[in-house]
Order: sequence, then C-alpha cells, then structure tokens
Amino acid sequence: MRYLTAGESHGPQLTTILEGVPAGLTLLAEHINIDLARRQKGYGRGRRMQIEKDEVKILSGVRHGKTLGSPITLVVENRDWKHWTNIMGIEPLEDETEEVKRKVTRPRPGHADLNGAIKYGHRDMRNVLERSSARETTVRVAAGAVAKRILAELGIQVASHVVEIGGVKAEKLDYASLKELQEVTEQSPVRCFDPVAEKKMIEAIDMAKQKGDSIGGIVEVVVEGVPAGVGSYVHYDRKLDAKIAAAIVSINAFKGVEFGIGFEAARRFGSEVHDEIIWSKETGYTRKTNRLGGFEGGMTTGMPIVVRGVMKPIPTLYKPLMSVDIETKEPFAASIERSDSCAVPAASVVAEAVVAWEIAAAIVSQFGQDRMDLIAENVEKMRQYAKEF
Ligand SMILES: Cc1cc2nc3c(=O)[nH]c(=O)nc-3n(C[C@H](O)[C@H](O)[C@H](O)COP(=O)(O)O)c2cc1C
Repeated sequence: MRYLTAGESHGPQLTTILEGVPAGLTLLAEHINIDLARRQKGYGRGRRMQIEKDEVKILSGVRHGKTLGSPITLVVENRDWKHWTNIMGIEPLEDETEEVKRKVTRPRPGHADLNGAIKYGHRDMRNVLERSSARETTVRVAAGAVAKRILAELGIQVASHVVEIGGVKAEKLDYASLKELQEVTEQSPVRCFDPVAEKKMIEAIDMAKQKGDSIGGIVEVVVEGVPAGVGSYVHYDRKLDAKIAAAIVSINAFKGVEFGIGFEAARRFGSEVHDEIIWSKETGYTRKTNRLGGFEGGMTTGMPIVVRGVMKPIPTLYKPLMSVDIETKEPFAASIERSDSCAVPAASVVAEAVVAWEIAAAIVSQFGQDRMDLIAENVEKMRQYAKEF
C-alpha cells in the first residue's frame, strides 16, 4: 500500500490517492470524517480551524460502501479558498501588485521557508509555505482512517494521547484498557489521560499564547492486537519499527521518536530493559513487561506497540524571532501567518494516522494483498500458529 498527497494550504482542496488498499473493505465517508474532526480539535489551535470544517469526498475506489481494490481518491476542500482565489489562483494574475500576491520575503526561523525558497528558486516564500504547512496532514489523517478501518476488521485497535506539553508531564498513565484511554482522552481538550496534568497543560498553552510564543510536547500512539512477526529482520527497509519511526518524524515539526521506554534504555542495565518471555496455553508467548514497546528485530512481538513522538514548538510566533528580508538582506522580524500556539493534541491524531498506515501496509503486504477476507483469514491463522508454536 502507498499513498500520495497533493494540495496547498489555501488552494482549492487537498487530495490523497491510496493505492493497494485491498478489495472488500467496508469504507464510508463517515469513517474518515470522524478522524478529520478529531484532528481539528485541541486546545491551543488558531482561527483557521474554526473556518475549516473538514469533510472528505470519496471520488474513486469505493462502490456501495466497499473498496474495489482500485486506487481510492479522497479530497477535502479548503473552505477558506474562496478568500484566496486571487492569491492562490492557478491562472496568471492580471493585477500583479504585491497586495494581491501577498508575497512573503521574511522567512520564519524553524519553518521550511528559507531552505525551500533556495531549493526551488522561489523569491516569494508563499510558494513554499503553502505546501510545507501542516494543513497537508489533513489528508494524511484521511489515509490513516482508511488504514484504521483495515486494522479494525482484523481486531487491531489504535489509540493516541498526549503525554507532555511545554514541560508538563502526564504522571497518571494507569488506564485499564485502550477503550478507557480512548474514552478519557477524546473528552480532554489536550487529549491527556491525567486530569491534573491536563489542567497544567492548558495553563502552559495560555501562558505561551499570552507571550506570543508557542510550545511543543510529546504524543504517544498505542496499538493493540497486532500478531507477532509483522515486519522483518532480514532487510533494513522491511523493519517495521524503522518505517514507523520514519513516518513519525515525517510529521511536520516532529523531531524525535522512541519505542517503549525509548531513550531511557541508554541509562539502564540490559536486565532492566529486555522483556522476559512467558508462555501459557491460553495466550501463547507473551512478555512479562513491554519496555521495548512491542518490537524486537524489526518485527512485532505481539505485545502492544507503544511509540512516542516529540513535537517541537510551532515556528510561527506572534512575537516573531529575527530574520532577514531576502529582498533587502536587512534584519527584520519574521513574517506572521495565521497560526496555532500549540498543536500537540492535533498532532497526536496525525501520529495515530501515520502509525496505523505503516502497520496496515505491512500486514496487507505480508498476509495477502488483494482481498480483505483472505487477509483476515491469514492473520487469524498466524495468531493461532504463534500460539501453538
Ligand atoms: C497539526 C500540526 C499543526 C501545525 N500548525 C502550525 C502552525 O499553525 N504554524 C506553524 O508555523 N507551524 C505549524 N506546524 C508545524 C510546521 O508545519 C512545521 O514546523 C514546518 O512544516 C517545518 O517543518 P519541520 O518543523 O518538520 O522542520 C504544525 C504541525 C502540526 C503537526
């Protein structure tokens, strides 16, 4: 399975084409719209999210609620487009004044503006920021929602939550089940399980906003029900943990990734890191602990997959850092685009989507490719085999 995305932040629409999604999967627009709405929520987001109410249109690859095996085209229109038809128009402009073009010449430190302009030779950095904007993650969430449908039909559940914002850490993480984690975090404005930390996170966001600043944080994705042995140790580009790591760091503003106890492993003895193997007739092989976050040798262990991603603070600041105007080479405060002060809660939904995609893609390629019914049968056989092994 693979997908492409296209579209500018203030262009007419965002598009994704998904190739290789198996036939026979139940798929409705509402499955995708639920996740699009989840991405738009979250304390700390700016006015753009109030303007946009994202809804998907499925334009190909689905008939009467079932996938056909052919490419699936998903589009999400930008409601704000009507205000940008000149600035972002496809046709050459008749009125070439700067006012009409909304040219950007003062790159924001931390964003793609300057490097993108140098790379593609754009003197107007709007040509860069319109695509480097995280608006693109809308259709990555749409793709992830399709992946989550595949996983759901295989009895695999995916959840995400926020474990840190602006230095405030969630301490209470003792959820009894993934369902409980989902129920609590869906009600939280910062998608946090710990109510004490939630309050402090909101305060930290308010404080950053007041100062014209931004803050980042850490999100966690948990996936339960993946059978052991998905991915591979035999070649570097088939290691599933590596693919997930790349997917996480490909999210705008994500700078780090860890599995299970992650970087903490560097500070412990091996005996305090590796998970002891146990066996019972009912469950087959499991681990006493899950410090490695569900991976050994690039393959799933059958334990929950636990992956965390670090999001840096958003680069656009209402009290901007200094930059250089590329026209005059004079120092200037960086440009201000309409912006969030914290998008960590929304980013956790994006992380959930990209992780779901990688896992679904690995399962589809390993267990049958073309048909949902055969994939489901093969996954079940694998579960049984692993138990009796
Ligand atoms: C959900 C989400 C929302 C974001 N919103 C903004 C924003 O409003 N303003 C901004 O400057 N950056 C925002 N970002 C981050 C930038 O898109 C990102 O920093 C930029 O593309 C440069 O890429 P890099 O940080 O990965 O190097 C957001 C990221 C995510 C995941």
